[in-house]
Amino acid sequence: MHTFYLFSIISYMITKKQVQVLDFIKSYITKYNYAPSLEEIKKKFKLASVSTAHYYISKLQDAGFLNKEHNQPRAVSTVEAKQTIEIPILGAIAAGQPIEAIEIPGETITITRDEIGQQGKHYALRVQGSSMIDEGIFDGDIVVIRKQEVAENGQTVVAVIDDNEATLKKLYRENGRFRLQPANPTLFPIYRDEVEVRGVVVKIIRNLESQIDQGQSRNDKYVRKIDYSWDFRGEKTKSYTHGIHIYPAMFIPQVARRLLETYSKKGDTICDIFCGSGTALVESNLLGRNAYGIDLNPLALFIAHAKTTQINPQKLTKEYIALLDGIEKIKDKEIQKPDFNNIDFWFKEKIIIKLAKIKKAIKEIKDQNIQNFLMVAFSETVRFSSNSKNGEFKLVRVKGEKLENHDPDVFSIFRKYAERNIRGMTEFYKDTQKDSWTKIIFGDSSKDNGIKANSIDCIITSPPYGDSRTTVAYGQFSRLSAQWIDVFDNPNDASGLDNDLLGGRATKNLTHLLSSDYLKESLEKIAKQDEKRAKDVLSFYIGLNDCLKQAHKILKSKKYFCLVIGNRLVKQVRIPTDFIIAELGEKIGFTCESIIVRNIPGKRMPIKNSPTNITGALEETMNKESIVILRKN
Ligand SMILES: C[S@@+](CC[C@H](N)C(=O)[O-])C[C@H]1O[C@@H](n2cnc3c(N)ncnc32)[C@H](O)[C@@H]1O
Repeated sequence: MHTFYLFSIISYMITKKQVQVLDFIKSYITKYNYAPSLEEIKKKFKLASVSTAHYYISKLQDAGFLNKEHNQPRAVSTVEAKQTIEIPILGAIAAGQPIEAIEIPGETITITRDEIGQQGKHYALRVQGSSMIDEGIFDGDIVVIRKQEVAENGQTVVAVIDDNEATLKKLYRENGRFRLQPANPTLFPIYRDEVEVRGVVVKIIRNLESQIDQGQSRNDKYVRKIDYSWDFRGEKTKSYTHGIHIYPAMFIPQVARRLLETYSKKGDTICDIFCGSGTALVESNLLGRNAYGIDLNPLALFIAHAKTTQINPQKLTKEYIALLDGIEKIKDKEIQKPDFNNIDFWFKEKIIIKLAKIKKAIKEIKDQNIQNFLMVAFSETVRFSSNSKNGEFKLVRVKGEKLENHDPDVFSIFRKYAERNIRGMTEFYKDTQKDSWTKIIFGDSSKDNGIKANSIDCIITSPPYGDSRTTVAYGQFSRLSAQWIDVFDNPNDASGLDNDLLGGRATKNLTHLLSSDYLKESLEKIAKQDEKRAKDVLSFYIGLNDCLKQAHKILKSKKYFCLVIGNRLVKQVRIPTDFIIAELGEKIGFTCESIIVRNIPGKRMPIKNSPTNITGALEETMNKESIVILRKN
């Protein structure tokens, strides 16, 4: 049996208009020795916006006609012509229920020879249906097939069954029969004793039109581009100091890194205006950028500080070993029980004593950075030894028998997290750029936080998805840890944090001056069902708009502001926050250059919530998020 491999994964066909843009860039480069700007491309082709020009550039880059050195058109250069071949499109193939194999000759596509290898005969088919989505094959895509009658187990094949029904599936031979496996968890496999293989998929040509979010209407002002290369599915997210404390809705480090690499350069000053636990700050340090981080949650800032402060791992380990010794020596009568509301509701007495011993020993460490670093491991120990359910971001107490049997081993939990964190710091200390700095600001990003106007080279951030009450309750998540580690002057203030975050206080009425048609439309739909909820929503966007204004002020002209955001569902209304940000941003003085949609394989978000008051009526909240790329005019 021959062995064939699935070759390159995705490429893009280029349209007539894109050929014209390419020709224009080529002749421009011949004349001026550098590429035209987006503005010049926009003017030349009378495009609606520079984001459309940007769209053409990225299509040409994706198709391999322009080099991908930087994301700025002036930096593009053309690629030498490659040997191409014309392949006939023989009709449609079902990636769903099998359809009759009909061949409609006449249409062809042209691709470069090295994309499909030198051997064999090929043909192409248009895909119908969604049974292969997990393999990255979508309705409307074109698949290039190498003709062959046999296939290896697990290859994606064109299979003809039941006389003349063709389908695109993964083929497995097992127990003397064939299994045609869809790559879509909602569909069942097809079993047959006989299958006729007509070829194996060697290339997928993505039809981006069909990838535009289904919720998008043709009249939308902006275009969402689904890009699976931003998913980073299966990649390690806990390297360096990224793993040292959980936090809700954290960035995937790879997303922050790619944005930093694309929109900033070494030596630049970055700002994350909702820095949370500091993922973007850690990545900035590793990439040799300086960084400001702003947040209103003291616990988040405490973690972010620990994650970005370089500590010599040997010194750290020495202190840690001494600490373990110190904890053992503390007698019960020496400890002082912390005093905050409901401590006995959330912690059993013997747990409180053990936690208090660890805290006392940590507080005795003289080096403030080491003390803080080990306090972060203590913060997680608090979380995991409390009576709250571990899997929840909101505070939910375990009940009944479970609570009675709840007997966490506090010291070993602490050791586990402390040692994991020290390993993370060892990695970070080795690779971080020693001269990059991080400044962490406790502040409200909708207000002036003292950062100089026009001083920031790039803003990368992930705002809250909505108010804390109905999305992620950052304050509630942080409360028990914050109360133990003294990040609030008065530990009881920790309970009020969620009210201070974006959207924390509903507006008095629904009148506003925000110029976003998308917001207006969403508010009207929500208000018809529940006026109070509409006021919560409005309050969030008023706050967010103020944050956009502050961001505009501190950012240098022509520099980028990247926001990773989810389009949440309120009262069954999907609020297009990405479009709202684009509209509000354009009013303030940004241009929206693109909106990329990514899947969220591992973001710590509640995937389901109850959008109605009907018990059990669960609806998906967010499994996708948008990356909005704004550029200051
Ligand atoms: C999605 S989280 C950021 C997570 C972060 N990217 C990380 O990797 O940990 C949003 C953050 O916004 C903060 N926040 C909410 N309202 C704020 C405001 N008005 N000013 C500053 N920070 C705020 C929350 O405390 C939360 O930490």
